[in-house]
Amino acid sequence: MNVYFDNAATTPLANEAIEAMNDVMKNCYGNPSSVHVHGRKAKAHIERSRKSIAQHFNVPSSSIYFTSGGTEADNIAIRQTVEMFSVRHIITSKLEHHAVLHTAEELAEKGLTTISYVHHNGLGQIDMSHLEELLSSMPHALVSLMHANNEIGTRISLREIGNLCQKHHAIFHSDTVQTIGHYRLDLSATPVDMVVCSAHKIHGPKGVGFLYLKPGITLHPLITGGAQEKNLRAGTENIYGIVGMSTAIDLAYHHLTEHEKHIRDIRNYMKSQLIQHIPDVSFHGDSSDDGLYTLLNVSFPPLIERDMFLLKLDILGISASAGSACSSGSQIISHVLKAIESDEKRPAIRFSFSRYNTYDDVDKAISVLNKLYQNRIN
Ligand SMILES: Cc1ncc(COP(=O)(O)O)c(C=O)c1O
Repeated sequence: MNVYFDNAATTPLANEAIEAMNDVMKNCYGNPSSVHVHGRKAKAHIERSRKSIAQHFNVPSSSIYFTSGGTEADNIAIRQTVEMFSVRHIITSKLEHHAVLHTAEELAEKGLTTISYVHHNGLGQIDMSHLEELLSSMPHALVSLMHANNEIGTRISLREIGNLCQKHHAIFHSDTVQTIGHYRLDLSATPVDMVVCSAHKIHGPKGVGFLYLKPGITLHPLITGGAQEKNLRAGTENIYGIVGMSTAIDLAYHHLTEHEKHIRDIRNYMKSQLIQHIPDVSFHGDSSDDGLYTLLNVSFPPLIERDMFLLKLDILGISASAGSACSSGSQIISHVLKAIESDEKRPAIRFSFSRYNTYDDVDKAISVLNKLYQNRIN
């Protein structure tokens, strides 16, 4: 089996999450909206999960809304804030996930808002004085800036940006998909209005996530047809998914210190081994200890054809990602790498790590890369 270094795309399910979901699948089939005992049992699973999740972020349970994942939560946050608060301006960056960028672009195409992209440097760090300039000229804007970039790992300070947003009466949404479960987040003490979670990025199931709305914020539903999730999101709830996500989040936060140390050590070992074995290797984004510790975006010397690199790694036993979409058989450079003006001739590979990775996995990857570069298999 290949070594799995694509944990920013998705993660293997934790056994504990599988067991928790299995139990619900076998023993709880009621509709949570039903008033009888079967329904009440299902509802209790959902509300227990909501309470447990909320406690990790030090917020009331009523501020957590379950969704089908990060993309839907981002969509609700952006689309419904624009509608509900008559937002006429979105401030974001060219480095955001498409769940944010395509949503904002569509709203702008429809003439509902305009968009400004805040400047950033070559590492993907936000230009704070440009952000302040934009906020001063557009009060009451919606600001959407991700907590950590899923391709290059550069992080923002929620506190610093949130304080600036408050000063200018802007609403602040942050895509926290890559940081929830990896960093502690006291949302009651953080000046952010909306954050999102995707369970499958932290060893939970696919197809479930949540949107946090700061107490006091109420949005209209994006999906209509039922009163679930306090009228924010219609549709019978994904009970197993919600229980699996809650179990995954419990595991992540109960063992955060040991998981973080292990993943950081693996990532830093990979970085040092790459520097030692591959001449002229470099890194995109923030590969320092301040960057997201779960990933490394590596810029390789252009000796191996860019389009074939990922395929060769796969054949030789390493599953990683190019942080790019595949179109008609060739790799299109990602919008994030384009935005930081990376050298398009150099292959860029994102290796992303989890607590299940080992030093042996890194040694295997380095040996494969050594082979590729020594033989220059083209
Ligand atoms: C930063 C970021 N936002 C949003 C998403 C989308 O999450 P989901 O797969 O749950 O829709 C992802 C996953 O690729 C992501 O990395």
